[in-house]
Amino acid sequence: MNILSINDLSKDDMLKIFDIAENLKDNKEQTSLRENSTLALFFEKPSTRTRTSFEAGISQLGGKGIYIDSNTTQKSRGESFADIGRMLSSYCDFIAARLYRHDDIVEMAENSSVPVINALTDLEHPTQALVDMYTINSHIKNFKDVKIAFVGDIATNTANSLMLAATKLGARMTLVGPKDYNPNSTYFNKAREHGLVYVYDNVKEGLEGANIVYTDTFVSMGQEVEAEKRKELFKDFQVNSKLLEYADPSALVMHCLPAHRGEEITSEVIDGPKSIVWEQAKNKLLIAKALLLFLSLQQN
Ligand code: CP
Ligand code: NVA
Repeated sequence: MNILSINDLSKDDMLKIFDIAENLKDNKEQTSLRENSTLALFFEKPSTRTRTSFEAGISQLGGKGIYIDSNTTQKSRGESFADIGRMLSSYCDFIAARLYRHDDIVEMAENSSVPVINALTDLEHPTQALVDMYTINSHIKNFKDVKIAFVGDIATNTANSLMLAATKLGARMTLVGPKDYNPNSTYFNKAREHGLVYVYDNVKEGLEGANIVYTDTFVSMGQEVEAEKRKELFKDFQVNSKLLEYADPSALVMHCLPAHRGEEITSEVIDGPKSIVWEQAKNKLLIAKALLLFLSLQQN
């Protein structure tokens, strides 16, 4: 089984992963992977959290992570993702890949004999969506009571994955961004098949009743040449204390990180009492472990 899109997981799969995470957290059972399991982490883009949480996670489960910066591989001389997937899977038990093009991870997975985990592509960030929904669930027990407002770049990878995960689990979501700036239509239409998701360009309307306010960078990895244009486009969608007045008074603030204080979020908010960002980031380790355990159960 591969996790290239969050849609590769059913609602029951997601709930199972959350259960495994909960048991790990409570230390209810001694858990490990098959002895000496290995995880290849093949990364084209930088990472602070995803890389470290998967490396720490597999080592805590009795295995080993092998980090591979793609620039140091034959990829830099044109080796295909098909061949790389085939080879890595003949050495390792799992592959986590962070790539630019989503089609490349599909090609890698089609040629891999072991599970491939999408550790972020231009289109999706499924492991982040799992972390986000798990974190939300530890504050709001019933997904039906959750209303997420995703503010800012509503067409980014994190928004794509989160809207699929949230709607599949029964949460409502609004996508709040600039006028004439649309979400990715494929993801939006898929999310609408699952449940309730709406687009707003009016902040007041989009945040009404939201009990989770979520944002991400205005300039994703690979978009650096458009940085100034994008910061200008999204500037009215900064998550600050004034914007939060439009949300439910109980609203909690989330951000996948890395944060750009003063751009998509203010320091006052990210370091303030409504922020659950650090708990969210910490949960990446728990979900990395739960996901590896879940995948190993699928193989048995
Ligand atoms: N949230 C997240 O994926 O962080 P990294 O880019 O540091 O892995
Ligand atoms: N949308 C961001 C997510 C970073 C974890 C990016 O792709 O850079």
